[in-house]
Amino acid sequence: MADPTTDTYIGVIGGSGLYDIEGLEGAEWQNVDTPWGAPSDAILTGTLGGVKMAFLPRHGRGHVHSPTTVPYRANIDALKRLGVTDVISVSACGSFREEMAPGDFVVVDQFIDRTLAREKSFFGQGLVAHVSVAHPTCPRLGEACLTAAKEVGVTVHKGGTYLAMEGPQFSTLAESKMYRESWGADVIGMTNMPEAKLAREAELCYASVAMITDYDSWHPDHGEVDVTQIIATLMGNAAHARDMVALLPGLLGAARAPCPHGCDRALEFALITQPDA
Ligand code: ADE
Repeated sequence: MADPTTDTYIGVIGGSGLYDIEGLEGAEWQNVDTPWGAPSDAILTGTLGGVKMAFLPRHGRGHVHSPTTVPYRANIDALKRLGVTDVISVSACGSFREEMAPGDFVVVDQFIDRTLAREKSFFGQGLVAHVSVAHPTCPRLGEACLTAAKEVGVTVHKGGTYLAMEGPQFSTLAESKMYRESWGADVIGMTNMPEAKLAREAELCYASVAMITDYDSWHPDHGEVDVTQIIATLMGNAAHARDMVALLPGLLGAARAPCPHGCDRALEFALITQPDA
């Protein structure tokens, strides 16, 4: 196993089109077991530019898990067990901002968690911890994603608030307007929570690149969101996402320095259960 204190190991949680990365050496699909059950799928591991990488299809190959049934805890734990240090989430989202257009990427830095039917913590049974998620993404990793996205020529927005909804239905018009006008959300999706919270509990750096596929339902000049539109935009962007991910090994480097923002030490002041309890 890679040593997470010295070796960068990039984990990518994304969709189809993101794992056939050209040049991935020693590519191998690995089944990883966890106490939380099986992850969404086997994990494709290999080395790119001298840096270890792992690709996990969030919904499983063939898209068999809905946003509610994705085994988020198993996914994060499986990546941790492999020795992953840095998790990049790539996902589709709707936009609440005119200037954040379909086809653009957003390096998200805040979340509003409106999910309600998912296991959200590794802790609670005999071992209680309260980690801070005031700053739920890693600025160092986010910066690398931003640089990589710019380099591949995609329009990318630095920072944004992602509203994580339960789904699977899209939002009503009233919800869409409320999230945008009153709550100040910039984008909306169904998958980044509790993923980001669990990554923090697992002391992993986490960054989210949200790929805008639609204007949700608030925009007077755009119709209602539908899956055909989302898939068409995603397919158009798959190459950009792949190229962005392929630049990350070069930007992060094979030798890992401790996270300057403390993501890899998140539990230091978070455990509350007494050791001998
Ligand atoms: N994923 C892509 N577009 C979305 C939207 N408008 N709402 C929720 N999830 C999405």
